Amino acid sequence: MQQVFLPGDHARGQWMRFDAARILKRYFFCERSLIISQAGWLAAIPSFDGKTILPTFFWQDTMTANALRERVFELRYPSRLMEIGEDEPLITVFDQARNAPSAEAFVLSLARLFKPALLAAYREYEQLADELADGPILRALRTAITEKMEQVAALTTLATVMLRAAPERQAEAEAWVAALGQRLVEVGGVSVAPPVAGVNGEIPGSRPFVLPDKAARDERFHLCRYYWPDVVDPHFPYGEGIRLQLRSAVSHFNEVWAVETGGAILHAFADDLGWEFIYDAARWTYDESRHARMGYERLKSWGYQPQEIPLGSYIYDSARGQDPVIRLGMLHYFETKNIGKKTKRAEAFASYHDKVSQHDMDFDWADETIHAAYGHRWLDALRALHPDRVPDIDAIRQRCDELVAHEVKAATQQDCQEIAQIANAMIAKAERITHRTE
Ligand SMILES: [Fe+2]
Ligand SMILES: [Fe+2]
Repeated sequence: MQQVFLPGDHARGQWMRFDAARILKRYFFCERSLIISQAGWLAAIPSFDGKTILPTFFWQDTMTANALRERVFELRYPSRLMEIGEDEPLITVFDQARNAPSAEAFVLSLARLFKPALLAAYREYEQLADELADGPILRALRTAITEKMEQVAALTTLATVMLRAAPERQAEAEAWVAALGQRLVEVGGVSVAPPVAGVNGEIPGSRPFVLPDKAARDERFHLCRYYWPDVVDPHFPYGEGIRLQLRSAVSHFNEVWAVETGGAILHAFADDLGWEFIYDAARWTYDESRHARMGYERLKSWGYQPQEIPLGSYIYDSARGQDPVIRLGMLHYFETKNIGKKTKRAEAFASYHDKVSQHDMDFDWADETIHAAYGHRWLDALRALHPDRVPDIDAIRQRCDELVAHEVKAATQQDCQEIAQIANAMIAKAERITHRTE
């Protein structure tokens, strides 16, 4: 007699834990690919908004990816293997984003293709998953759904603004994104089902990714080489009072170089140093983007227009042609060098009743303390991996000092006059503002 059982044909039973892990692992590699591309592109994106919102977004993506990765480990315990494996055709298409023909095309591909694909995938998973079995990852995915919706909206606006400023690149960007979209369809998109093999080979119109030697910068600002006269003129005081308030805000704003550098090193060492490095570098870059924003928001609140604010290039420029380890050294060294002065400056701002400068300096201090640890950790890790190529930290610092000193020495009389003029105009404006409020 045939045995009969109670029925188990229930929607909750559709996926076993390995099935769920297979899907979540796919999402992880999609996120990871986009995190690296977004980081690498920061230096080539001129828009200040673009340079500061992308790090926010790829830090969010990193939080999502990390939750996915941890969940995959839980579901596959004791295995801690994370391999692209069967998802290769899909991740190959995601990786192609890096080879965009222009910054505009890159941002358009995020807005129109990749972020919406992940948003749709997370919604699909959320609908199909069993709350009882899969609850631990659903919270992260629901957060990611909200974030991705906001990302798509902001990136769509950014792509529109960037293309409006460069209409000659519109047709090329549209064609490239359409070709990329076709490839994504061919591999089956981001889905609960594994991808299918697609057409291999380059997307028509692609340009292999190269980190630019000179960073693209937002032309709304006063673009120059050195962002304050004291960089090139030892007689120009760092200053007190309104001069210190301005100097500090301009320094914060000029951490744009640190944003670009954080992105550059994330991209350069992602494969070498692995996920934990990506996780730290994403936070590092996001923090620098918040510091740059802090400076800009302060200057804006005092009434400065973008064209009155200097945006210097010399620190980013000084690492051109160098091993990316030098950029990691620069970020570690120049960003944490003045950490001891920050509490003193915060105190000075408190004595001026400038609560917002004090607040920004105070929070910046906490971030820089984390960054000092990142720098040590990852420079040591790189040296352990490549002892022949990577010198010790002291030698790297010395090299960074030499490179920046060389860039400073190259200042022409015109560079010096230009920054003195713009700084003096800012100081004069501050004096007018303070007289009005006296
Ligand atoms: Fe910073
Ligand atoms: Fe920093």
